[in-house]
Amino acid sequence: MTPEELLARADEAAANAYAPYSDYHVGAAVLARDGRVFAGANVENAAYPLGICAERSAIAMAASEGLRPGDVEAIAITASPCGGCRQWLHEWRFERVHFRRGDGTVATYAPEGLLPETWDLPEG
Ligand code: THU
Repeated sequence: MTPEELLARADEAAANAYAPYSDYHVGAAVLARDGRVFAGANVENAAYPLGICAERSAIAMAASEGLRPGDVEAIAITASPCGGCRQWLHEWRFERVHFRRGDGTVATYAPEGLLPETWDLPEG
C-alpha cells in the first residue's frame, strides 16, 4: 500500500472525527504487517484534556484486535503528530510515519527522527 493510499484511509477516518470544540478533524490509519488497516479519528470531550488524538485512536483499534508493537508497519496521519503521539509512535515501533504538512506535502519519517533520543524503560 502506498503512503497516498494509506493517507486516503486516514482522510476517510477524519470525516468521523468528534471534534465539536476545536473543529479540527484529524484521521490516522495504521498499516499492519499482515496487510490490515486500522483507522481512527480524534475524539474530544467537554473536559478538554480527556480528548484522544487520531493516532492514539487508530493504535488503540489495532491493540484491541491483539496487535502489539512491532506488528505494525506504517501509519499515515492527516496532520503532524503532537508530542504525546510521537511517544506512542516510538512505543509501537512503526517503520514509517507519513503525515500531511500544512502546505499539503507529505512528510515521511522513522519514529526516531520525530523524537530523537527519547526516554524509554531501562533495559533489564
Ligand atoms: N489532534 C490529533 O488528533 N492528533 C495530533 O497529533 C494533533 C492534535 C487533535 C486533538 C484535538 O482533538 C484537535 O486535534 C485539536 O488539537
